Amino acid sequence: MAPALQLDHPENDELSGYRYRLLEGWVMPPEITDESFASSRNLPTRPTDICFVSYPKSGTTWLAYILVLLTQKKKDSLQTSYVWPESDRTFQGTAEDLALLDDPRIFKSHMPYHMALGTPARSPCRYIYIARNPKDVCTSYYYFERNQSWSGFFDGGWDRWFEMFIMGKVQRGDWFDHVLSWWEKRHQENVLFVKYEDLQKNFDSELKRIADYLHIEVNDAMVKEIRDTVSFSNMKTNKFSSLANRDGHTCFFRKGKVGSWREQFTAKQTEVFDSMYRDRMADTGLSFDFD
Ligand code: A3P
Repeated sequence: MAPALQLDHPENDELSGYRYRLLEGWVMPPEITDESFASSRNLPTRPTDICFVSYPKSGTTWLAYILVLLTQKKKDSLQTSYVWPESDRTFQGTAEDLALLDDPRIFKSHMPYHMALGTPARSPCRYIYIARNPKDVCTSYYYFERNQSWSGFFDGGWDRWFEMFIMGKVQRGDWFDHVLSWWEKRHQENVLFVKYEDLQKNFDSELKRIADYLHIEVNDAMVKEIRDTVSFSNMKTNKFSSLANRDGHTCFFRKGKVGSWREQFTAKQTEVFDSMYRDRMADTGLSFDFD
C-alpha cells in the first residue's frame, strides 16, 4: 500500500490527520496504489460492461442499487454485486478474475474522466456519471470522512473541511474539475450524465432514461418496484443495501435529501462558495438545484 502523506495545505496537518496521496496531481485515497490505478485504467472492457462513476457523496450507492436491480445482478450484498478495482482496499484480484465474471459486469469508479476505469475515451463500456450539488456533497463528505480509516478519521472540524473542499484538497480532488471532466463528455455515446436532484424530483423518468441508455426494457410495475426498493428508508434499513459494518454502523445513509447544506454552511461560507460556483460554472451549461 502507498504511504499515507500528510496534507500539504497551509493549514494542514497533524491536527486534522487527513490522509491522502497525490496521483497525477490529484488528491486520492492512499489505497489507490500505482498498480491498482494502472490496472483499473487499463482494464479491457466489453460493450456489455457498465461503470457507474461519481465524485464521492453524490448518490453513488443509490445509483449502484438501481443498476443492480435493472440488470438483475443481485448477489449477497450490494457491495458484492459490483466490482471496484481502482483501490487495493476494494479489489485484490487480477484482470483474469474480472474476465471470468458474467455479463453484464458492473464496475464502480470515483475518478475524473481521464483517470476512470477502462479509459472511457477508447472503451466500449457504458459509463453513468452521477453528480450532486456541491454544497450537499461538501456537507455529506464531511460527516462521512470523520468515520473513515482511509481518511485518517478526519477530525479537523467543519471550517477546515470547508477550506480543504473548496481548494480541491480532499480525496478525489477538485469537485468542479471532476464533474466538469464528465459533463464535457456528456454527448459521447458511452456516457450518461445523471443528477442526484433529478433522481429525487423525477425518479421514474430518470430511471427510464437510465434503462433506455442501457437498452433495458422496463414496464410500470418494474419502475414501481425499483422505486420502492431503492427508497432512502428502505436502503438504509435493508440488510442487503445498508452497507453496515459489523457493529451495525452505516455511514452511507445520513439525511438523503437536497439542501442539508443549509444546516451546515455559515452565511460567509455560502457567500464564498456561491461566488466560486458562479465563476467556475460560468458558460458550462451545467447547473444544480440547491434546495
Ligand atoms: P447525505 O449525507 O446528504 O445524507 P454516496 O453513495 O455517493 O456515498 O452518497 C451518499 C449520499 O447519498 C448521502 O447523502 C446519502 O444519504 C444519500 N443517499 C443514499 N441512498 C439514497 C437514496 N436511496 N435516496 C436518496 N439519497 C440517498
